[in-house]
Amino acid sequence: MAAGAVPDGPRPWWQEAVFYQVYPRSFADSDGDGVGDLAGIRSHLADLAWLGVDAVWISPFFRSPMADFGYDVSDYCDVDPLFGDLAEFDHLVDDAHALGLRVVIDWVPNHTSDQHPWFLDASSSRDSPRRDWYVWRDPTPDGSPPNNWVAAFDRTAPAWTFHEATGQWYLHMFESAQPDLDWDQPAVEAAMHDTLRFWLDRGVDGFRADVVHGIGKDPALPDDPPEMAGVPHCALNDHPATHRRLRAIRSLLDGYPGERMMVGEVFLLSTEAVATYYGHDDELHLAFNFPPLFAPWLADQWRRCIEDTFAALDPRGAWPTWVLSNHDNPRHRTRYDRAAARAGEDAATAAVRSEARARAAAVLLLTLRGTPFVYQGEELGLAEADVPDGRRVDPGGRDGCRAPVPWDASPDHGWPVRAGADTWLPMAPEADLRNRVTEAGDPRSVLHLYRRAIAVRRASPALVRGSFSLQDAPDGVLAFRRGHRGDTVDVLVNFTGTMVDLDDPTVVGAEVLLASDDPALTDGFDGLLGPDQAVVVRRRRGTCATGAGRRPVPDVLQP
Ligand code: GLC
Repeated sequence: MAAGAVPDGPRPWWQEAVFYQVYPRSFADSDGDGVGDLAGIRSHLADLAWLGVDAVWISPFFRSPMADFGYDVSDYCDVDPLFGDLAEFDHLVDDAHALGLRVVIDWVPNHTSDQHPWFLDASSSRDSPRRDWYVWRDPTPDGSPPNNWVAAFDRTAPAWTFHEATGQWYLHMFESAQPDLDWDQPAVEAAMHDTLRFWLDRGVDGFRADVVHGIGKDPALPDDPPEMAGVPHCALNDHPATHRRLRAIRSLLDGYPGERMMVGEVFLLSTEAVATYYGHDDELHLAFNFPPLFAPWLADQWRRCIEDTFAALDPRGAWPTWVLSNHDNPRHRTRYDRAAARAGEDAATAAVRSEARARAAAVLLLTLRGTPFVYQGEELGLAEADVPDGRRVDPGGRDGCRAPVPWDASPDHGWPVRAGADTWLPMAPEADLRNRVTEAGDPRSVLHLYRRAIAVRRASPALVRGSFSLQDAPDGVLAFRRGHRGDTVDVLVNFTGTMVDLDDPTVVGAEVLLASDDPALTDGFDGLLGPDQAVVVRRRRGTCATGAGRRPVPDVLQP
């Protein structure tokens, strides 16, 4: 298939959907314990429907000792009492479906909690029938770990813990409280398939599979190359066994009606490698595309990310995903601010540009060819919370992006906690202004921009499923064209802090569908892109630019 070309015909829902990630601890709290829960999510589903998203991905809410805030699961088939119970989950799914929202849940197949009955059993004795459900190795003569693999979070820590009681090391790509399952054991694979069936039978529309490239490992457990010293093994593990396991998971999903899907977290350093996890349309439906999550606010870097993504995925017919923020990384608004500060931007400029950059990024996210994922709170323009040392709780230092979402301008911002309780993390910053109720009342807010952008996307076949081609543009501007059966839409993003004159007859005079900074649309695009402004325009058939009605070009742009 030619780059940028998209086959016609009906498309699966997950290719056309906008996903919204809920991190349950921080979304909404129904019982005043300061930790969000399923009833809290349920009470705000209508807000998500109003926003216009199509699917909600809910991070883990399963039984867990919370060493990694739910990514250490001690029972895959139950809800942790902190979050509610199975009946509450069933209500949530019913309500979501009634509102037209799909529900996708996290699935953590690489590791369990060390408190999972499987691990308690496996670690009880070398003779346990479940011993080989996990990866054990004998002590080495010099007492060092079995290989040089490094765990995530603390890059000096080995991915192994010595288990005194049974005299062997066990493998954990993350915390020692998260022992890796051994998927080479058919019983493990079967048990994990059962956990998928459990939730599919309850009506979930799909899964976000956590570090799913970890389920196949080289059984010889060879050292990582010395030049990769300090790189966590989870970013390097890329073994062929995973692919046949993903094919088995895919056929399990395909056995259910209703296009159940899986989006995988394949955290590898190369996009080509990630692309292989789509298989030949027989493994993952989608895989997260991480380079844009780390790209600074620079047009050439985004251009490269986009080119690399399509170069790796298009030859396989694999559908891309786009993400700016998630629960593991600093919020993009703050990332862009920090990168600009490192590049010498002063505080006054940053104050002006910060929200403008986040707005333009939102337009980019929602107009690229592929499935966008919005992380809770980015639709409010939230920045990273500044969490004081005394309140930091995460072993991976990710508290700042997990601050509770402010719902209103009241003193508790919609998180009324019981006497003696506090929210588990401090509230997100600027909560008096950046909260849902206040922003819902202001058509100029970031919230309304997301809503408009999602609506414009939904109404445009070109944006939802059209072809994609990068266009020539002045330095600091990214321009791309989307097209579908005569619907031609141009997206123009100014990554610089100054106005740019595009002087491009193919877009001047076009109908403005969306502007990142202004809900009041002008009749025809005048070719001038404001600082950090993104504009989406639709070409009128049979018209060409007249230049009429242009704003005066500022002196600085005159030759
Ligand atoms: C994934 C999750 C992250 C978690 C880790 C271990 O990377 O996104 O939050 O800590 O897996 O499960």
